[in-house]
Amino acid sequence: MASNLAPQFADEAPDRLQFLDDTLTGLREEPKRLPCKYFYDETGSALFDRICDLPEYYPTRTERAIMAAHADAMADEIGADALLVEYGSGSSLKTRLLLDVLERPAGYVPVDISRAHLLKSAAAIETEYLDLEVLPVAADFTTSFTLPEPERAARRRVVYFPGSTIGNFTEKGAVALLEGVAECCGPGGALLIGVDLRKDVDTLERAYDDSAGVTAAFNRNLLVRMNRELGADFDVDAFEHSAVWVEDAGRIEMHLVSRSDQAVSLDGEEIEFERGESICTEHSHKYTLEGFAALAARAGFRVQEVWTDEDALFSVQLLELPE
Ligand code: AVJ
Repeated sequence: MASNLAPQFADEAPDRLQFLDDTLTGLREEPKRLPCKYFYDETGSALFDRICDLPEYYPTRTERAIMAAHADAMADEIGADALLVEYGSGSSLKTRLLLDVLERPAGYVPVDISRAHLLKSAAAIETEYLDLEVLPVAADFTTSFTLPEPERAARRRVVYFPGSTIGNFTEKGAVALLEGVAECCGPGGALLIGVDLRKDVDTLERAYDDSAGVTAAFNRNLLVRMNRELGADFDVDAFEHSAVWVEDAGRIEMHLVSRSDQAVSLDGEEIEFERGESICTEHSHKYTLEGFAALAARAGFRVQEVWTDEDALFSVQLLELPE
């Protein structure tokens, strides 16, 4: 059923009201925060793609190299006739390495919060993989969404969750998310996940504060988006990008720091900022292999295989659920 039209898709992405509600809630809190999932409007998704190509941003190219070197082994472990469900599919760049070697996948379900970006990527995959049934879902994968059924029954479901996006969640949130994956896969299912590893502070901080300022623009774009979509009146240049490693929490934190005492209005509410006060916009946890195995076990997953690069910067891990 190949066609040149965008594939049919299920739309469960958050709407404007949800966006407003989530951002107001975060800005009323002390310290202030904004959910990082809202980075990914069209501009944000494009900026993120540029981040992935930055010399300082080691995760993407390292993960891609791991995939390129071990995709065959991964496909062997996954086996034939699997339904591949991708969380946060974005441009589906690393996925192609897997799709190239998977044996007769029953279908590919890219799930992404950015509707326009999802449809563009899904249409591209459809034209490149003519025998593959592509079933895109526009949704926030932290909420439950309906998994589409492929025409050909799958032997098992495998979730692909690259990019170490798991690192954006607190410990509790990560376990909840992995439990959601387990539910999505069902017994005998598996999770192929990208997991960023601990390393020296300098490398980490530079990866989140690049010299070209792309990450800073990505961070500030959240305010640009709130101005446009929610009618907020952020003076975007009055906030400074910051990225710091927080040792106790084992994570990079991205913040937008107010350069002055100022007030911003959002939906008729005045949000006040003191000079130096920050909005936390993202956590990016980094793991040890032991720490991640323990986290996965709390959601019922057993680590079947771990692939890393020679400097152990990043890992791709296959986690299995019991039958
Ligand atoms: C897409 C969540 C993996 O945390 O490294 C990149 C997002 N933020 N630079 C990350 C991001 C700033 C990224 N993830």
